[in-house]
Amino acid sequence: MKADILLGLQWGDEGKGKIVDVLARDYDVVARFQGGPNAGHTLEFDGRKHVLRSIPSGIFGGGGSTITNIIGNGVVLDPVLFRDEAQALEAEGIDLRGILKISKKAHLILPTHRRLDAANERAKGSSKIGTTGKGIGPTYTDKVARRGLRVGDILSDDFGARYSAIRDSHLEQLEAAGMPVAGTKDFVDAEQDWFDAIDYLRNFDLIDSEHYVNKALDNNNSILCEGAQGTMLDVDFGSYPYVTSSNTITAGACTGLGLAPGRIGKVYGIFKAYCTRVGSGPFPTELFDETGATIRAIGHEYGAVTGRERRCGWLDLVALRYAVMIDGATHLIMMKSDVLDDFDEIMVCTAYQLPDGTVTSDFPYSAGDNAEGAGVCEPIYTKFPGWKTKLSGIRNYDELPQAFKDYVSFIEKEVGVPVALVSVGPDRTETIVRSL
Ligand code: GDP
Ligand code: IMO
Ligand code: MG
Repeated sequence: MKADILLGLQWGDEGKGKIVDVLARDYDVVARFQGGPNAGHTLEFDGRKHVLRSIPSGIFGGGGSTITNIIGNGVVLDPVLFRDEAQALEAEGIDLRGILKISKKAHLILPTHRRLDAANERAKGSSKIGTTGKGIGPTYTDKVARRGLRVGDILSDDFGARYSAIRDSHLEQLEAAGMPVAGTKDFVDAEQDWFDAIDYLRNFDLIDSEHYVNKALDNNNSILCEGAQGTMLDVDFGSYPYVTSSNTITAGACTGLGLAPGRIGKVYGIFKAYCTRVGSGPFPTELFDETGATIRAIGHEYGAVTGRERRCGWLDLVALRYAVMIDGATHLIMMKSDVLDDFDEIMVCTAYQLPDGTVTSDFPYSAGDNAEGAGVCEPIYTKFPGWKTKLSGIRNYDELPQAFKDYVSFIEKEVGVPVALVSVGPDRTETIVRSL
């Protein structure tokens, strides 16, 4: 048995939560492999809406039988946010402790990490990244600097002392940055809350998840690996430095779960019928006009975690092709198709014109290098007539309007991978499966 992966091909918020939930029915295990509570994955079914941040989107089993969910070693976990999220689900009657396992090798987000995130952003001034403020960058920094605290460490006797040593070095950094917090009531309370949340975390099954997932595959159990963020936010291949601090790509599922490349099966690459981005950085097809505002309004394009306005623009096939190449996507999943229902014309970017006049269809070294995202790339568009049809009630691909199918065919031809599933609304049922 091989592990399949579902990951974002754009700048995040493609609809990963919805589709992991839809696909979960066919899997025994769902495993998150990177990111942390910077993620906000939305699931809608039975008239209810859930936003998951650290907990995998397989906890409802797609409405089928109960399945196992894993928070992998590549994830960074904030015990306080995790406890709040878990308790809210437990209050709804979900037996989370019975279905969720957490890697001992996942790194812990400390109270100081979130404050360092804010200090780093302040120091960057107008070139700030626009992070989610959840301490993601500083936590991964400590991981790579080989001084991080891991979930498994909470089981050791010297956990308190190790915590204090790291906390003290962070406090010095905050002091030097002109944002001292040592001794403040706010910080003392935050630390107490953090240790209370660590106690709550001890109630969960803390495991060597690399052994668990590999044995699960050996025993013919199926696994779906759930990505967070998106390929264009990958720390190596995204629009650096306006990226997150983890590998969001297919390779990230290997390192974030301990799966060898040969154990990977299908790679479901998910994208919106248009593009959005939240935070700073280049976005070549961004629309600053009425059309962008219309997409935002119809698509409810506001951050699931921070409530920030998402920047909106047309579908960018240069970036999409690049993401498909980096991820080796075998199947495409197109989301939020219904948002474009009423548009007279729909534009798709097929190439960029660079400042020296050359035209390229390969994503360049830099697509713009300032926080405002002013592109050094001028998008070249192909125009499509809108389908002017309400898609949300349609469940069969053949019944979709021809103009919509032409749009899909064009994307498939340009990117070279088939669209296996089309989403026409936020609800679990508003889904058209072609060939998974
Ligand atoms: P994720 O981070 O990739 O899981 O995506 P988010 O949950 O942050 O953002 C996707 C948003 O679009 C959520 O509010 C979903 O409920 C919503 N959504 C997902 N699929 C569709 C769709 O096909 N149509 C519409 N209109 N909304 C969708
Ligand atoms: P999901 O999983 C969209 C963006 C932030 C910022 C940059 C770095 O819901 O798709 P960070 O806090 O990670 O250091 O911020 O990455 N970002 C996301 N954008 N969806 C996400 O997650 C994101 N997680 C981080 O806005 O630009
Ligand atoms: Mg999201």
